[in-house]
Amino acid sequence: MKILVTGCDGYIGWPTFLKLCFSNKRLDILGIDNFSRRKWVKEVNSKSKIRIFSMKERLKELNKYKLKNKFKFKKIDLTNQKKIKDLIKNFKPDVILHLAAQPSAPYANTSLKKCIFTTQNNNIGTLNLLWSLKELNLEKKIKFISTTTTGVYGTPNFPIPEGYLKIKKTDLPISSMGGSWYHITKSNDCNYFWLANRLWGMSIYDFRTAITLGTSTIETRKNKYFTNRFDDDFYFGVVVNRFVANSIKGKPIFIYGKGEQKKPFIHLKDAVDSLYNSINLNLNNKYNVYNQFSETVSIKHIAKIIKDLKTIKDKKIIIRHIKNPRVENETHKMIMKNKNFLKVLKRKPLKISKAIADTKTDLQNLNG
Ligand SMILES: NC(=O)c1ccc[n+]([C@@H]2O[C@H](COP(=O)([O-])OP(=O)(O)OC[C@H]3O[C@@H](n4cnc5c(N)ncnc54)[C@H](O)[C@@H]3O)[C@@H](O)[C@H]2O)c1
Repeated sequence: MKILVTGCDGYIGWPTFLKLCFSNKRLDILGIDNFSRRKWVKEVNSKSKIRIFSMKERLKELNKYKLKNKFKFKKIDLTNQKKIKDLIKNFKPDVILHLAAQPSAPYANTSLKKCIFTTQNNNIGTLNLLWSLKELNLEKKIKFISTTTTGVYGTPNFPIPEGYLKIKKTDLPISSMGGSWYHITKSNDCNYFWLANRLWGMSIYDFRTAITLGTSTIETRKNKYFTNRFDDDFYFGVVVNRFVANSIKGKPIFIYGKGEQKKPFIHLKDAVDSLYNSINLNLNNKYNVYNQFSETVSIKHIAKIIKDLKTIKDKKIIIRHIKNPRVENETHKMIMKNKNFLKVLKRKPLKISKAIADTKTDLQNLNG
């Protein structure tokens, strides 16, 4: 099976690429990335708090294992229409795992320039893939797997189904309530997927990925050159990462307002394992949606989990509530279905308390 992985240098892409390489499935894997995530983090004056190695160093180590699977990497920009079409024409993938995007809401919300950049980067990238497949007559032969986000649902006052609301026997796709310019690029992707399926019968597997926590997987721990990134800055670090990093440094954990709003989360390992399993899903000419999360947890509860992880060696953990600068419902319950997702994961997902504990351990062991 030939698999094209976009964004394979990224936080989810790298452990997914590694898992595919180490599997015993007899795969031919081509990873692509343009290293823009490394550049963006530098641009906001930050860096991964776990040291990550260059793709050249990562691959040099990977080549030392006698792996059954073939793997290759190409530095390529997804927005380059000709290069993407040529790549697909030459490689002829059976599966595309599309994980490349500018994934930061605060970064996209900074200015008109950043908003337009994120829109072009994310949406032109997706369109180049979809249209290349169509123009090369491969659209019905391929499994197109992508990670959008649970953020496309917003915070509605009803239990969130997996992708569709049933109204009078019509399956109404729901994905247009994202709360940032980044999230709207993902809503756009959902619309493109819906149309590519409707017009061309393309088999789409849309993983609406929740806030992903943890830094390592079995494969990233195999070699010190395989470490995965950990960001805790305002733009690219999720709030839980900042909480964990601050708790280690003895800095207070600041909760905006009541902090009772629940958000969906997933352990990195579950995100990677379910994407890995998805390459074996049937080609079914449907637009399939999976809510890729394990639990919804409140920010206040996350802070408590971190506090409970304190050992005698750790510094004192202080939790403070401050005035919420955001316009948000501080008590939103976020009820979400994930039956389709659990069928793909094929096991009980890991607890979020475990993801947080693993993050803390990795940060303490791999930091620097
Ligand atoms: N991490 C999360 O919590 C989370 C949550 C929901 C959805 N997602 C989605 O999952 C996917 C992976 O997220 P991530 O956290 O690994 O992000 P990431 O930034 O770590 O990885 C994305 C990778 O794509 C590459 N990339 C971006 N634009 C590119 C382009 N034009 N050409 C080639 N490569 C390009 C980047 O260099 C990066 O390595 C993204 O689509 C993201 O929106 C992530």
